[in-house]
Amino acid sequence: MQISKQAEPGVGLSSCAPWCSAVMRLSLRRALRCLLVTVAAGFILLNLHVLYNTPSSDKSRTVGTFSHVGSDVHIQYSVGQSVPTKLSLHITPRPANDTGNHTVTVKQRYHQNIPINDTEALKQEVIRINTEQYVHNLDKFGLSLGADSLVIVIQTHDRPEYLRILLDSMRKVKYIENSLLIVSHDVYSPQLNELIESVDFCPVMQIFFPFSQQIYSKEFPGEHPNDCPRNAKRAEAVESKCNNAEHPDKYGHYREAKYCQAKHHWIWKLKHIYEDIHLLKDYEGNVMLLEDDYYLSEDIIFSTRMLRGLRERDCPDCRMLVLGNYDKNQNYAIHGSKVSVERAYWISSKHNMGMTFNRSVWVEIKKCYNEFCVFDDYNWDWTLQHLSMKCIPDKIRLLVMKASRIFHIGECGMHKKSKNCDPDAAVKQVETKLAENHQHLYPNMVSLAGDSRFKLRDPKPNGGWGDIRDHELCQQYFNTSSHR
Ligand SMILES: *[C@@H]1O[C@H](CO)[C@@H](O)[C@H](O)[C@H]1NC(C)=O
Ligand SMILES: *[C@@H]1O[C@H](CO)[C@@H](O)[C@H](O)[C@H]1NC(C)=O
Ligand SMILES: *[C@@H]1O[C@H](CO)[C@@H](O)[C@H](O)[C@H]1NC(C)=O
Ligand SMILES: *[C@@H]1O[C@H](CO)[C@@H](O)[C@H](O)[C@H]1NC(C)=O
Ligand SMILES: *[C@@H]1O[C@H](CO)[C@@H](O)[C@H](O)[C@H]1NC(C)=O
Repeated sequence: MQISKQAEPGVGLSSCAPWCSAVMRLSLRRALRCLLVTVAAGFILLNLHVLYNTPSSDKSRTVGTFSHVGSDVHIQYSVGQSVPTKLSLHITPRPANDTGNHTVTVKQRYHQNIPINDTEALKQEVIRINTEQYVHNLDKFGLSLGADSLVIVIQTHDRPEYLRILLDSMRKVKYIENSLLIVSHDVYSPQLNELIESVDFCPVMQIFFPFSQQIYSKEFPGEHPNDCPRNAKRAEAVESKCNNAEHPDKYGHYREAKYCQAKHHWIWKLKHIYEDIHLLKDYEGNVMLLEDDYYLSEDIIFSTRMLRGLRERDCPDCRMLVLGNYDKNQNYAIHGSKVSVERAYWISSKHNMGMTFNRSVWVEIKKCYNEFCVFDDYNWDWTLQHLSMKCIPDKIRLLVMKASRIFHIGECGMHKKSKNCDPDAAVKQVETKLAENHQHLYPNMVSLAGDSRFKLRDPKPNGGWGDIRDHELCQQYFNTSSHR
């Protein structure tokens, strides 16, 4: 158990003020001695305080912080066995039946061989899968969902080489077998399906964005032959009667289907998970959102539990835990064993990696769905920042990990056009980093290192979301009757 260096003088000096002043007048030397004794006494008291308050059970929940230095707050929290809570769902694993021909029948039921060019069949298959909500590996792992559980959601596009890397990193994550993994696709492909079927480390469900460009390849929300070209002048567009010539974005550009899909997919996925998946109907625990080009550190679930404890004790108004960050230098030696955590308000470019929250955040987003659907920005994260600033009461406050538990492998993402994107090299680099810092993983203490000083603003919309067809489709997710 250690106490941060800055804490000592801070506490010592402030406790000297009331009763030292008289002594001070006697002599400088005695005053200095007094100071020294006070600091020492403060230090010892502090230690006792820490010992006394180190939480090991629920009883210590009421204990707050033990020192303040400027804006820094330090607390300790140890992750014991999580207290069992009411489960919303409990399915026990079934022992394997070697005499049956189980695997074969399951796979046949799971996916049919749909020719990719047969969009009508694809549409039906996607509806079937989203309705059936089959969970793979239930017989092996069972499933218990309660307030302490974690549902991990991956939004994936057509990048099996990245998804494979993410899944391989997941296989090593401690406690993963107790989580439910949901993979949300906007492309149906045998290769991706096979990859998901190869998941052997936890229960997994696939869901499919039903309004994908793949299914609607020649019509909205895909690209319709009569759609206005992006750079068409408005007058020409109106003249040529191309689709929605009256509705370019705020910069005068027309819709590009390929850039609109991710925002549709993102909001549809949240709605589907919270409102339409039967297993999660009464689920109160956290959902962690990932993208397909991440790599996870093996202690990410462990760290999430630490953060959750810190939130309860020290930032009850934080609604989100963020497990990853984009900092160039990740100092595990400093931030690692103590798990330094920063408190902040949601900023799209800093807090969109490994967002973890429960239904209460979804309820807030849902209340603001109209603002989400009409805000003229094709990025879901900018849109969410706009909601946080302008629609969600009190903004989205969060705790973010200073030593990242997630690494962004896909440098050649959707927008960036980097030539040298070698995922294997990036993975090597991350694995080396994690191996070097192995002793700093599974930290036994979290410490709130203060508040982010980043200036908040309502983001200026980037455009790309001016077409009312996008607004209406987005709104439609919220007013189709769901299973609940
Ligand atoms: C194993 O599977 C076979 C064939 O499906 C079935 O007849 C048998 O009852 C099963 N045995 C057990 C113990 O579940
Ligand atoms: C399992 O099913 C497949 C296809 O239905 C069949 O070819 C195979 O012989 C079966 N295996 C066993 C052990 O019954
Ligand atoms: C799909 O492609 C196959 C082979 O290229 C072709 O025979 C078939 O007619 C196509 N189906 C549709 C629905 O376009
Ligand atoms: C869900 O998160 C909110 C904070 O956003 C918290 O107040 C609430 O207690 C959480 N619910 C559960 C069941 O943990
Ligand atoms: C559903 O969404 C459409 C499109 O935005 C809207 O016009 C309609 O009023 C909505 N219906 C309900 C019942 O909310």
